[in-house]
Amino acid sequence: ATRVILDCDPGHDDALAILLAAANPVIDLRAITTVAGNQTLAKTTLNARRVCTVAGITGVPIAAGADRPLVQEPLTADGIHGESGLDGPDFPPPTVDVDPRGALAVATEVLSESTTIVATGPLTNVATLLERGVDNVDRIVLMGGSTGRGNMAPLAEFNIFADPEAAAVVFGSGVPITMCGLDVTHQALATPQVLQRIADIGTPLARICHQLLTFFAGTYREVFGFESPPVHDPVAVAAVIDPTIVSVRPANVEIELAGVYTRGATVVDLERVTGRRPNANVATALAVDRFWDLMVSAIH
Ligand code: BDR
Ligand code: CA
Repeated sequence: ATRVILDCDPGHDDALAILLAAANPVIDLRAITTVAGNQTLAKTTLNARRVCTVAGITGVPIAAGADRPLVQEPLTADGIHGESGLDGPDFPPPTVDVDPRGALAVATEVLSESTTIVATGPLTNVATLLERGVDNVDRIVLMGGSTGRGNMAPLAEFNIFADPEAAAVVFGSGVPITMCGLDVTHQALATPQVLQRIADIGTPLARICHQLLTFFAGTYREVFGFESPPVHDPVAVAAVIDPTIVSVRPANVEIELAGVYTRGATVVDLERVTGRRPNANVATALAVDRFWDLMVSAIH
């Protein structure tokens, strides 16, 4: 199994990413680290504990990381994920604790052996780890960016937009990166058929997932006019479980830090016109049915 640290900001789709990473036998989930993003750090950390509690995930340390981006002011996504960051279901009080050592210490310990980092939030924790010079980061598989349009600005996706300096550190690090951006995650739509499959599972956890996706569908409809919401974050986990689930193209990716209208954009040189060396495998297509089969089978 692949050793994985899941760095996340739950978040409806992060919650599903946690479920998938914990349930699939190809992944050996060694830690869940949290970051400020969709909501404040306090809320994303509480949400990680809530998800682990209802899913019966025990024995995986949950540790809190950065409470703000490296440079810019913090930003949350209340409009999509609600006041709690995980609006929809009523969660029972969490019964799994937070690891008092914190995200960086926990991640550093896990990184005593070769480990994949899956990042589904702003890249603040990952950048901080890399800047400290940790070894053994086998690769980073992240949800973030886009080869074209954004969702926070015309050309910027939320996870990059929320901490562009951190993203620049990650893409400049030389660690192998798989970038699962909006190009692929906008194909992972929780359609009414998907919701029905989840409802049919009939367990308490499936009920909670259904309520999460119903809330998420509502805000995505209101804010973006999507008929069905894109379930971004589990795509990055799925790409670790089964690399053939995404088609990738090696490309140079630079993070726009200075643009007046384009700060936080991922500038992806798919056509190789810049002569800059590829620093990421950029996912451009998703095997949608296989993705949902994996995701649905993780909900028990
Ligand atoms: C990303 O932004 C967050 O709101 C989601 O959890 C996902 O990680 C999509 O742009
Ligand atoms: Ca996220």
